[in-house]
Amino acid sequence: MAELVLRDVEKTYGKSVQVLRDINLEIETGELIVFVGPSGCGKSTLLRMIAGLERITGGELTIEGQRMNDVPPAQRGIAMVFQSYALYPHMTVRENMAFALKLAKKSKAEIDEAVDRAAAALQLEPYLDRLPKALSGGQRQRVAIGRSIVRDPKVYLFDEPLSNLDAALRVATRIEIAHLKEAMPDRTMIYVTHDQVEAMTLATRIVVLANKGIAQVGTPLELYETPDNEFVAQFIGSPAMNLLPGKITGTGEQTTVELAHGEVAVSAIPTTEEDKGKIVNIGVRPEDLVPTEDTPLFRGRVDFTEALGEVTLIYFEEVNGAPAMTAKLPGIHRDLRGNDVSLAADPAKVHLFHKGQSMRRR
Ligand SMILES: Nc1ncnc2c1ncn2[C@@H]1O[C@H](COP(=O)(O)OP(=O)(O)O)[C@@H](O)[C@H]1O
Ligand SMILES: [Mg+2]
Repeated sequence: MAELVLRDVEKTYGKSVQVLRDINLEIETGELIVFVGPSGCGKSTLLRMIAGLERITGGELTIEGQRMNDVPPAQRGIAMVFQSYALYPHMTVRENMAFALKLAKKSKAEIDEAVDRAAAALQLEPYLDRLPKALSGGQRQRVAIGRSIVRDPKVYLFDEPLSNLDAALRVATRIEIAHLKEAMPDRTMIYVTHDQVEAMTLATRIVVLANKGIAQVGTPLELYETPDNEFVAQFIGSPAMNLLPGKITGTGEQTTVELAHGEVAVSAIPTTEEDKGKIVNIGVRPEDLVPTEDTPLFRGRVDFTEALGEVTLIYFEEVNGAPAMTAKLPGIHRDLRGNDVSLAADPAKVHLFHKGQSMRRR
C-alpha cells in the first residue's frame, strides 16, 4: 500500500483564492519525492498541508491508509525542516537536538541514544557541545535536520532546506541528504525545491507543479527524456529546450514537420494520417543540436557565445521569422560569434507538441 496518498486535494485561501486543485499522488514508503516548480506555484502550501500546518480545503490525505485531514501535526508521524533553521541560540547542539524529546518527556538514556544516533548520521559528533553561533551555515542546517531525525518520524518534509547556503555548501549538504536518505531506506522524504539540479540529483520521482496542479510525475530521466508537455519540457534541463513552430507534413513511423522558418525537421515520434496539417511545436534540447553540413533544421548567425569550459553555449537571435535558438556544443569553440551555423538533431531527440501536449503518448 502506498504510504502517503493525496486524493483530489485542493487549497483555497479565504473564499476564492484557489492555489492548488486536482492533486492526486501516491507516494510509496522509502521514496524521496521532490516537488519542484516556479516560485509561487504552491510547493510550500502542499507540503504544509501534508504536515498539518495548513488546512486541506478539499480532498483527502491518508498516511498508511488512515485519513489525516483532521489529525494534528504532532500526531501525523511527520517532521518538517524549513528553509530558515531557527535554532535556539542559547542551547548547545546537543540541547537543540534533544529539545523535542525532552518536551515529550522521554528518559535521559533514550534522548542520549537518539541524539548520538542523529549526530553520527549527520557527522555532527565533534560539535555537540557548541552553541549555534560557533557553527557554519551548513552545520546549523544539519543540526536542524538532526532535530527532526531524533524524533524518528515516518515521513520527513523538507522545504527548500539548502537555499540559504552558498553554492559549494549547497552541493556538499545535498550529497549529505542523499547519504542520509540511503541510511534510512524505510523512511519517506518529500523535498521541496525550485532548483532543478537538486530535483534531478536527489529524487526517486519528481512532481512538477504548475498552474495550480501537477504538470507531470516521473523519475528525473523520464521527465528529461519524455516530458508530457511544453511546460515540463522547458522547466527541466538548462538552458531550456528550444521550441520551434511548424506544421506536420509527413506522418507514419516518423513525422516530418515543416518549420515556420522554412527548414524541415524529422521526429521519431509516430503519427497517423489524421495528424497531417496539425500545427505543432517541435522541441529540441540545446545539447541535442549538432553542427551539420547537410539538411539542417535550423541555420542562423551566432549572436553570442558563452564558454563554460566543458561546453560552449551558442545563442541565435530571432531574425526574419527564424526563432531565437540556443545550442550547447561540447568543448571549446572560439571565434563562433558572427558566423553562420547550421544545426541538425537526431530524430530520436526531436520532441513533438500539439496544443502544448506531447504527441508521444496518446
Ligand atoms: N495565507 C495566504 N493567503 C493567500 N494566499 C496565499 C497565502 N499563502 C500563500 N498564498 C499564495 O499561494 C500561492 C502559493 O504559495 P507557496 O505555496 O508559498 O508557493 P511556493 O512555495 O511554490 O513558492 C502563492 O501565490 C501565494 O501568494
Ligand atoms: Mg515555498
